[in-house]
Amino acid sequence: MTSIKSPKKLIEVALPLDDINREAAREKSIRHGHPSTLHLWWARRPLAAARAVLFAQMVNDPGYQQGGGFKYGVNKEEAARRREELFDIIRELVKWENTNNESVLERARAEIRKSWREVCELNRGHPQVAELFDPDKLPAFHDPFAGGGAIPLEAQRLGLESYASDLNPVAVLINKAMIEIPPKFAGCTPVGPIPEGEKQKKMMDTWPGATGLAEDVHRYGHWIREQAEKRIGHLYPKVRITKEMVAERPDLKQYEGQELTVIAWLWARCVFHAIRPPVPGLFGR
Ligand SMILES: C[S@@+](CC[C@H](N)C(=O)[O-])C[C@H]1O[C@@H](n2cnc3c(N)ncnc32)[C@H](O)[C@@H]1O
Repeated sequence: MTSIKSPKKLIEVALPLDDINREAAREKSIRHGHPSTLHLWWARRPLAAARAVLFAQMVNDPGYQQGGGFKYGVNKEEAARRREELFDIIRELVKWENTNNESVLERARAEIRKSWREVCELNRGHPQVAELFDPDKLPAFHDPFAGGGAIPLEAQRLGLESYASDLNPVAVLINKAMIEIPPKFAGCTPVGPIPEGEKQKKMMDTWPGATGLAEDVHRYGHWIREQAEKRIGHLYPKVRITKEMVAERPDLKQYEGQELTVIAWLWARCVFHAIRPPVPGLFGR
């Protein structure tokens, strides 16, 4: 069997860990537009870490190496300079603000494609070259334990064809919602009913990426909320803050006379008497 010639990847040599860690920690406080707000998944990996690690696994380390039937890389000084350039890409890549910054992402994607072409070139004598080493087709990414989907999402962002699966149906649904469905509607114009009273604020000719889909989620979400309010809203009445309440809770003084929305309802029902015949001893009878 012909062995595959694969230069060391950047992740095997060095990483700007402080930068990655700082941004990964910062991400925990992001409350808008983060997948964690779609569903709270235990053991979710930070997007910044997933993005950095994937990039560093896909790009070749520039250092000189030989053996395994090939030579690759540049001298120490030049390698250190090139490595620093790759670190700079990672430093930009991990920032939350750059999550959808096409110029930053494209710089990273270009490096990934360049490294892949180098690997294809090294393996052009491989017997399965046509199948395994097409310089115009990056290898696909597969995550069989995808959980909250941080890793396949970032692989897709970095330009890889991304596949996710998991044993847990909730994880499968999260991954479908994040990775499978949005690309199918990329660039589509929204079709949902515009909420009454809301002028179509986004008069856009084009709806890049998933913006059209996001607008439809907003529109249909509004419609569902309205329907729910019409049908069951009366079961969740507002609460009028009375003088008597304020006497017991002086902190409510500023709300006296106002109707406030209840944020949590506790529903309880006693079923003991519905059980026939009563089971002696079971409910203390
Ligand atoms: C640590 S979580 C993955 C977290 C994920 N990388 C993220 O960023 O959210 C591990 C996942 O492996 C899944 N899993 C465990 N055993 C599995 C199996 N035999 N086949 C498929 N998935 C499995 C679990 O359901 C869980 O979602």
